[in-house]
Amino acid sequence: MSDINSTKPRTLGRGICIITGASKGFGRALAHKVSHSLEPRSVLLLVARSGTLLQEMKEELQSFTEEQQLGVHCIAVDLSMKEGVDEIVRVARKEAVNEIEHVLLINNAASLGDISKFGSFTDPNEVNSYLSLNVSSPLALTAGILQVFPYRTGLRWSVVNLSSTFALQAVPSWVLYCTAKAARKMMFTVLSNEEQHIKVLSYSPGPMDTEMQKDILRLTGVNNHPLPCQESVGKLMKLLLDNDFSSGAHIDFFDV
Ligand SMILES: NC(=O)c1ccc[n+]([C@@H]2O[C@H](COP(=O)([O-])OP(=O)(O)OC[C@H]3O[C@@H](n4cnc5c(N)ncnc54)[C@H](OP(=O)(O)O)[C@@H]3O)[C@@H](O)[C@H]2O)c1
Repeated sequence: MSDINSTKPRTLGRGICIITGASKGFGRALAHKVSHSLEPRSVLLLVARSGTLLQEMKEELQSFTEEQQLGVHCIAVDLSMKEGVDEIVRVARKEAVNEIEHVLLINNAASLGDISKFGSFTDPNEVNSYLSLNVSSPLALTAGILQVFPYRTGLRWSVVNLSSTFALQAVPSWVLYCTAKAARKMMFTVLSNEEQHIKVLSYSPGPMDTEMQKDILRLTGVNNHPLPCQESVGKLMKLLLDNDFSSGAHIDFFDV
C-alpha cells in the first residue's frame, strides 16, 4: 500500500548521532533539533572541550530525552589530540551493542586559526596544530566510527562535513582556514566515492551568529551580517530528512 497520504512524521530513525563542537554555535543548535528527530531509544554523543557547557546542554534536553529514552553522553575532549578521538570511538563502541538503524556523524568542530599573510606561517608546528583539529581529527574520527559500525543491510550511514564557501574560494590571509576546508571537502568526496553505502554531505552553513563570526568581526572588521544558527540548522535538517542529495555533494545554505 502506498504511504503517500501517511501523516507519520519524518524522522532520522533509531540512530546514534555524534556531533562534534556541540557546546556552542551551530553544533549546539543542531543537537537540539536532531534530538527531536531521532526515534525513541536513540543515542546522542555530544563532543567539545567544555564539559560544563555540554552538561548544561544535556540538562536543557533532559525532560524530552527522558520521555524518549534518548541516551545522551557528554564527551569533553580536545579533538586535536589522538586521545580525544579515541575516547569518542570508545563510547560509540559501547553503544554499538544496541540495535542501531542509522549512524549519523556530524563533523562540525573547527577553529578559525590565525588570519595572517601567507609569509607569516614559518612555524610548521603552528600549521600542524591547526591541521590536527581541522583536518586530521574529522578523518580519524570518521575512520574510527566506520570501524565500529561496518556495513550491514538495513543500516543507514550518513556523514556531514561542516564546510564553508572558503573551501572553494581562495581568500588572501585565510590560508589556514581555506586549506583546511578545501582538504575536508576533498576528504569527504573520496569517502563518498569509496563507500557506496554512505551518504556524505559537505554543507556550507552560511554566515551564522556564533563566536566564530564574532571573532571574524573583531579580527578583520568585516561584518558578514550573520543569521541565527536555527535558520541554517533548519536547512541541514531538511536535507537530512529528505535524504535526496547526491552523496559527496557540496551544498550551500543559500541554495537550499
Ligand atoms: N559561523 C559561521 O558563520 C560559519 C560560516 C561558515 C562555516 N562555518 C563552520 O560551521 C562550523 C560551526 O561553526 P560555529 O560558528 O558554530 O563555531 P564556534 O561557535 O566557534 O563553535 C565551535 C565548536 O567547536 C568546538 N571546538 C573547538 N575546538 C575544539 C577542539 N580542539 N576540540 C573539541 N571541540 C572543539 C567548540 O567547543 P569548545 O570550545 O567547548 O571546545 C564549539 O563547540 C565550523 O565548522 C565552521 O567552520 C561557520
